[in-house]
Amino acid sequence: MTQHQRLYVNIDHIATVRQARRGHEPVPVDAVSVCERAGADGITAHLREDRRHIQDADIDAIAAAVTTAFNLEIAGTDEMIALAERIRPLEATLVPERREEVTTEGGLDVNASPAKLERMIRRLRDAGVRASLFIDADPVSITRSRELGADAVELHTGRYAHAPADPATIAALREGAALARSLGLAVHAGHGLTTSNVGPVAAIAEIEELNIGHHVISRAIFVGLDVAIMELRAAMDAARGRP
Ligand code: PXP
Repeated sequence: MTQHQRLYVNIDHIATVRQARRGHEPVPVDAVSVCERAGADGITAHLREDRRHIQDADIDAIAAAVTTAFNLEIAGTDEMIALAERIRPLEATLVPERREEVTTEGGLDVNASPAKLERMIRRLRDAGVRASLFIDADPVSITRSRELGADAVELHTGRYAHAPADPATIAALREGAALARSLGLAVHAGHGLTTSNVGPVAAIAEIEELNIGHHVISRAIFVGLDVAIMELRAAMDAARGRP
């Protein structure tokens, strides 16, 4: 298997460090060129409704600076869809948001308000933005995502990351990726992935793109952002049978 799997680096936690002081540094957009030079195929950022890390001005700056691809993560609200219509990133990933959560804890509930979700997806696509849904790797969510008109699904890898030794967690991702691809969806994945656990996920042929954030920024504290990305890239390539 030699097909290149894209690595999109999520830079939210650069903003987390800045917001810890409500100060001016580090500046998230400064990471864009470092990530791209180190081999990132794209940049991901999540403007949360509570603005806990990335701020509105960061999104404008990142969108202007990215030369690879920009994946804007947003909740499916009118405010955020309007932002995507204005910014026009290559793709927008719709994620669930709950104020009390420390991170995105589960996939989107695609059955909660399907008509609204379908409308949001249509607005994104009409603006020329690829619409991806962050969902758990279960057959119902995957099939519904296709019916709602999504271009892609991002399979939530959190369950696998918490229990990588449990064969059921990676099996669910393998089966989910195969089903999504068979339905014509592009397949992405992410959450909780690290250099140590990425291998089995990177080896799933149908997964075209990984979105990885926390580990990259954590590792960057000790080895620098560029080396952290190169380490991850090497782990992905090794699993994919690329030299
Ligand atoms: N993909 C989505 C949709 C996410 O919400 C997140 C977390 O912000 C990630 C990927 C990246 O997860 P992590 O920071 O654990 O690598």
